[in-house]
Amino acid sequence: MSEKTRAVRHYYDQNTRLFLSLGSSPETQSIHRAVWGEGVTSLGQALNYTNGLILGELHQLSQHLAPERVRIADLGCGVGGSLFYLLEHLDTPVLGVGLTISPVQARIARKRLSQKESSHPCHFLEADFQAIPFAPGMEVVYSVEAFVHATDPRGYFEGVSRVLNTGGRLILCDDFLSQAALPGQVAESWLEAYRSGWQVNSLHTLEEVEKLARAHQLALVRCEDLTPYLRLRALPDRLARLLLRVGRALPIKHAILPSMLGSMALQQCLHMGIIQYGFLVFEKQA
Ligand SMILES: C[S@@+](CC[C@H](N)C(=O)[O-])C[C@H]1O[C@@H](n2cnc3c(N)ncnc32)[C@H](O)[C@@H]1O
Repeated sequence: MSEKTRAVRHYYDQNTRLFLSLGSSPETQSIHRAVWGEGVTSLGQALNYTNGLILGELHQLSQHLAPERVRIADLGCGVGGSLFYLLEHLDTPVLGVGLTISPVQARIARKRLSQKESSHPCHFLEADFQAIPFAPGMEVVYSVEAFVHATDPRGYFEGVSRVLNTGGRLILCDDFLSQAALPGQVAESWLEAYRSGWQVNSLHTLEEVEKLARAHQLALVRCEDLTPYLRLRALPDRLARLLLRVGRALPIKHAILPSMLGSMALQQCLHMGIIQYGFLVFEKQA
């Protein structure tokens, strides 16, 4: 495991319980952004918005599959929020596998699993999604706010392409560099603060991601910009800059501090339009 991936693991091992108590909701246990799409009226619904989009893709795809064939994998599964949601909402038999780099998350996810009564088999593995440890045969593979951590994006797509059946789907919901933006100095410094605060190693434009995926027989079939549905909390630039300087000087070693500074930087980036939050679906080609 690379040094950078080890840093991602440390980041989630230290922060997960805080993320769950401060930023998530007890019923979803998601570690991702709330998306206030049309018809959404509560935090729980906003946290499940992305899960609902993934469910829609699964419903569509499962119409063309024999029921016993639906196998799904969550690459970067947190404590299982999305996977539990999908298993609860699917009627057809499903096998679910969740991968997380964080042993703390894997333990919490397994404990939650042991408390649930689900007819669907489900497993949580502590493993690197750049070296996927299972055999081919997946219908749907997805990553919600996890791909940005990849230190080896080619390895990620190569592994996904290997485990997906032809016609299967890869779904990515994540931050992407805006196509139009040519970041100036101010923007660059906020991008750097976001990358370092959140352990972001793979921030690409949609064009770059599409090209990377295409090189591994994954063709883009859906691309939706979810940024307008985020409730942004950007600050005046000078105030945010001051907070960043003060925050970086604090003698706190816990990973929650860089995470909070990274969150602020991300808000600035989204507000400036240099990052967009996208929902992408790729189809595995023959
Ligand atoms: C922001 S959290 C999102 C968790 C989950 N998808 C959700 O929406 O609740 C990012 C996730 O990516 C995982 N992750 C990051 N790098 C990884 C890697 N190399 N291999 C496996 N998981 C990784 C982390 O362990 C964490 O679970």
